[in-house]
Amino acid sequence: MQSSDSNKPQQRFEDLRGILRYVPQFRQRVFVIALDGALMRQSVFTHLLQDVAVLQSLNIEVVLVFGARAQIRELAEQRGVTLSSDDGMGRTDKATLEIAIEAITRQASELVADLTALEMPVAVSNALAVHPAGVIDGVDQECTGRIERVDVESLGAIVKADIIPVLMPLGYDGRGNTLRLNSDAVAIEVAIALRAAKVIFVSEAGVTNEEGKRIAQLSVADAREIYLRKEPGKDVNLLSKLRHGALACQEGVPRVHIVDGTQEEALLSELFSNEGVGTMIHADDYQQIREARISDVPALLSMMQQSVDDAALVPRTREQVQQKIRDFFVLEMDGNPIGSVAVHDYVENGTKIAEIACLFVKRSHKNKGHGQKLVTYAEDTARKRGCARICALSTQAFRFFEEKLGYQESDVSNLPKSRREKHDQSGRNSKVLTKNL
Ligand SMILES: CC(C)(COP(=O)(O)OP(=O)(O)OC[C@H]1O[C@@H](n2cnc3c(N)ncnc32)[C@H](O)[C@@H]1OP(=O)(O)O)[C@@H](O)C(=O)NCCC(=O)NCCS
Repeated sequence: MQSSDSNKPQQRFEDLRGILRYVPQFRQRVFVIALDGALMRQSVFTHLLQDVAVLQSLNIEVVLVFGARAQIRELAEQRGVTLSSDDGMGRTDKATLEIAIEAITRQASELVADLTALEMPVAVSNALAVHPAGVIDGVDQECTGRIERVDVESLGAIVKADIIPVLMPLGYDGRGNTLRLNSDAVAIEVAIALRAAKVIFVSEAGVTNEEGKRIAQLSVADAREIYLRKEPGKDVNLLSKLRHGALACQEGVPRVHIVDGTQEEALLSELFSNEGVGTMIHADDYQQIREARISDVPALLSMMQQSVDDAALVPRTREQVQQKIRDFFVLEMDGNPIGSVAVHDYVENGTKIAEIACLFVKRSHKNKGHGQKLVTYAEDTARKRGCARICALSTQAFRFFEEKLGYQESDVSNLPKSRREKHDQSGRNSKVLTKNL
């Protein structure tokens, strides 16, 4: 019998391979990581920061934001101050602001010390242009701030210099006033402005359903619904993350993750495994499929090369793709193309017929439903263009069309004349599949 120790090195190499699979799509993408203040006192926090160092070493551009609710509450208790609000969402009176400034600046200092100990260069940034939140529902919010703008230039320059910007849940207006901000709002505003690939809320708990089971994925609509239901007993901290997460996705951040930071390796496991360990909020599926642009052509060609080599796809030149670029669609994940499909249409005896071509999903993303999604999208596109029928020519994926998408193998006579001629000349002997739309 093998001892468990003898399995360990093998296990580590597998882990490394697993991680490296994700590296090309994450490289030089901005990840905004929002740390719950409560975690900063736990032993797991050092490991969490080490995981942040791993991300940075993989050329991921990290921005750190932290919350301060736990520290503010604790300090208020010590000083006997009653807080007007502890999370930067409600009204912040003068006494609460004083407590918040003290707690937050101490936390920033400790965080910089911890990051310095890990040899990570950091810069505490004031890149947020902030105004007083004003009067909301008839209540003067006093020292609560609202983020007006993010100074993308200065923040971007810090990130590009491999320095981690640290943003506090405090803002400064043009008159020299300090205002209290909500850290979830800071995280998403920065992510939207920097066009981040991800926001990761590292929280003190995870999002679960009624049975206490982790919810692995939520659409924007689902996340908003849970937030709006505001069931009693639900963790307000998590509800705020769901609300802000949905907002970020709506504004173009492809993925928002909420992970339970008290679990060892939660951050890396969420990012570098298919199943994840937290909850991912994603923008609606179709938003991931978009029209191809000329600038996508090199990526499309290199992505398809493997299937061309395997004779599953017909080789195409850059010019051929460029000429028909309006027919091409790209499936994007975290801002990177991971699949494609093209819809060409023909007119035969007054009837419009579409052909699905260049259907492709990157090897690392296969078997997750993307292929079927791309075909369904192509069918919808063909329908919108007034096509009555759609066909596909396939050498190796005919079963996929038949079994997963309801296509039927048919005769070459069902192809439009010009396409039939090309098919006969190619010698590929592809099978013809059709579906009425
Ligand atoms: C065909 C292709 C687009 C499918 O993409 P995908 O994202 O992996 O597909 P999905 O996740 O939507 O569907 C996966 C299911 O289809 C099945 N499937 C995938 N490719 C298949 C094939 N070539 N033949 C039979 N079944 C196939 C899988 O076994 C899986 O079945 P399961 O759900 O029962 O486990 C992808 O494999 C690919 O890019 N292939 C190379 C290029 C190619 O052949 N393109 C078609 C040219 S017309």
